[in-house]
Formats: sequence, structure tokens, C-alpha cells
Amino acid sequence: MDKLTIRDLDASGKRVLVRVDFNVPLEDGKITDDSRIRAALPTIRALLAQNARVILASHLGRPDGKVQDGLRLRPVAERLSQLLRMPVPVTGDALGAGTQDAVRRLRPGEVLLLENLRFHAEEEKNDPEFAKALASYAEVYVNDAFGTAHRAHASTVGVAKLLPAYAGLLMEREIAQLSNLLENPARPFAAIIGGAKVSGKIKVLEHLMGKVDVFVIGGGMANTFLLAQGYSVGKSLAEPDRVEDARRILAAAEAAGVRVVLPVDVVVAKEVTRGSEYKTIPVAKIPASWHIVDVGRQTLALMEEALEPARTIFWNGPLGVFEIPVFGTGTRQIARFLAARAEAGATVVVGGGDSVAAVEQEGLASKMTHISTGGGASLEFLEGRELPGIAVLLDRPKTTTATGPSGAPSRDPEASA
Ligand code: 3PG
Repeated sequence: MDKLTIRDLDASGKRVLVRVDFNVPLEDGKITDDSRIRAALPTIRALLAQNARVILASHLGRPDGKVQDGLRLRPVAERLSQLLRMPVPVTGDALGAGTQDAVRRLRPGEVLLLENLRFHAEEEKNDPEFAKALASYAEVYVNDAFGTAHRAHASTVGVAKLLPAYAGLLMEREIAQLSNLLENPARPFAAIIGGAKVSGKIKVLEHLMGKVDVFVIGGGMANTFLLAQGYSVGKSLAEPDRVEDARRILAAAEAAGVRVVLPVDVVVAKEVTRGSEYKTIPVAKIPASWHIVDVGRQTLALMEEALEPARTIFWNGPLGVFEIPVFGTGTRQIARFLAARAEAGATVVVGGGDSVAAVEQEGLASKMTHISTGGGASLEFLEGRELPGIAVLLDRPKTTTATGPSGAPSRDPEASA
């Protein structure tokens, strides 16, 4: 990895501002998936083990610069406190005299969580004064928020320009796993790309073209490919203005010798609602007034046959309307199939909100090689884009090699700040 990480940092006694992505799903004030909090634990624990004073900063939701009580970080602090088995106080605001005081009083080996950064509009605007205020809390900055690395905000970019800026262990792992897909995948390499719309996935399809051996395409976005193949898709979600893009991708795949697996049969429903009538039919026979809601059994068999030999598999996006359980059969079956492939030795990386949710719901997360904490961030990474929150971190000097987890500094980090 060409960025310095906390393995290169002597954090002992220092105030360390750690950007984490604690943007977790909440229902009635309760966290429904704490995986992003758990994913940040190795970095927090490593810093605490060095007796650092750890100041955590995160956003939660999109409050657009206004205080929203439902988006306060208290439930997150409570969960983190249980996981760390120590108190995690949360400030009333990310700024202000009370917060400055709490930061001043923080002792080595203690943790403090700043209130939701996005209660201040300055955060998303990457406002220099806001970044300066955050930087004033600490001597060192660590970014462990891979899920927010595609945002150029005050807490991801602004502050990293003001303090020596290191990658956390989660950030390091995400970069390593996703870079491996782009640079050095064991072949055959297959990518399963699903989700609602093709428009958001064109760039990733294009960037992976020539790197993958197989594309498996499902979900609503497959409907646009079916249009490109000349099928009618009834009332299904599709993007007719993207049919040309789909044709171009199919032609490029053919030219590059990339196999593309598209649905041959689908589950169609009268309405996209729970309890609606549904049936499985070939793609050539989709009734004009029905909606495609899942892939059919023959398609799943075809997908599994294409994926079976793969030694590396990346999955982003569900294969059907997964939030309605009866239309989530294809997505769940692929999740189970991938877990079995990972157990058989394949590298399986899952990125993106809904496919991760499917894996979590099936209790299969621990079987996969890597579950990315980034939805948008992992897609942008695989599009080959430079993520601003990563680009801004300190580069590893060419002559220096990483130290072990002992944390012994490999050089004076302050020197290049
Ligand atoms: C995410 O959930 O993808 C990240 O936390 C970024 O959130 P955002 O899309 O609201 O910037």
C-alpha cells in the first residue's frame, strides 16, 4: 500500500482525530446493522493500546446542515461503548467550547465521539474554517472511513491537509482487497453486477471490462440489457435511454472475449408489492402489463455454471426486488452459492448496500473473503477513480517499507505534513 497507515505511527499519548464511517441504518432509534461500527474496532483498539487519546468523528444520514434529533450519534456511542467495554461519551455538538473542553480533558487511553458532523453545512462544503476547528482537536489525523472516502468533505479532505494524515486498518484492508480485484485477481475473475439501474453501473462495467472473464448481470439493470437484446420487458423498471450503452457494453464484451450471462427466465409479478400474483416465464414471453422482479431458476443455474470455475468473484447489487422476501430468492441463492465458493477457496468480495444486506441476513458474512463497508465508495474505487479521502493521505516514501503492527514509526510523520 502506497499510503502510510497507523502501523507507521507512534500515537502514544497523542490526540488522534479518527474519521470513521458510523453511518449505520437506524429504525426507531435502534441500530439495525452495526457492521460499520465493528469494522472500525481494530483501528480504535490499536490506538488505545498505544495510549492515544482517541477523538472519533462521523456523519450519520443526510441532515443537510441542520440538527435532527433522530440523527444524533448517541445510539452509536452506546453500541461502541458495549463493544469496547468502556465509556464512549458523545459531545453535544462537533464544535463549541464544551467540545473543546471535553477534548482537552481527554486522557491517554480514552475515547470521545463528536456529534454528527453533518449537523454543520460546512462539513459537506469542505469549509476551511470547519476543517481548522476539527484539526485543532488533535495532533494526528487517521481516516478509517472508507465508506466516505469518495466524499471531499471537511472531515475527509480538509482536515487531512492540516494534520499528518494516516490510513486506519479498515481503510488499509479495503484498499488492499479492492486493489487486488483491479490489479491482481486470480483467474478466472467474475463480476456479478445487479441493482436497480444500469446508469449507475456503466462506468464500473467499462472499467472491469478486460479485467474480468465473466460478467453476470441481474436486477433491474438487466432489463435494459434485455431491451438491448430485442426483448420487451412489459412494465419493468428499465432505462430505454441507456439501451445504446447496454449494446455498446455487450459489443465490447464480445470483442474482449468476456462472457456475459443475462437472464433467460425471470419471475414476473402483476404489481411490485407483497402478496401480488407472480410466475416464472422465459424472457421472450414477458406480458405487457407485468413487472420483472427476480431471476428465474434456469438463469440461476446458468449463473452458477458460469461462476463455478471463478477463483475471484466480486458482487455488487441484488438480482431482484430483494426487499420483498418472495422476490429475493435469486439474491439469497447467489449469496449462499458465493459463501460456498469462498469456503472452497475462491476470493469473494461483496460491495454495495443491498448485496451486503442479503449476505448479512443469510448469516453468511463471516464466510466471504471481504465485505466492503463502502457502497458508493467501493463502486467508485472499482471505476478506477481516485477517491479524494484516500488521495490526501500521506504517501509512503518510496524507500521505506511498512513496519509491523508494533507501531514503531518508519520515519518522522510530521516531516511531510
Ligand atoms: C454511505 O453510506 O455510503 C456513506 O456513509 C456515505 O454517505 P453519503 O452517501 O450520505 O455521503
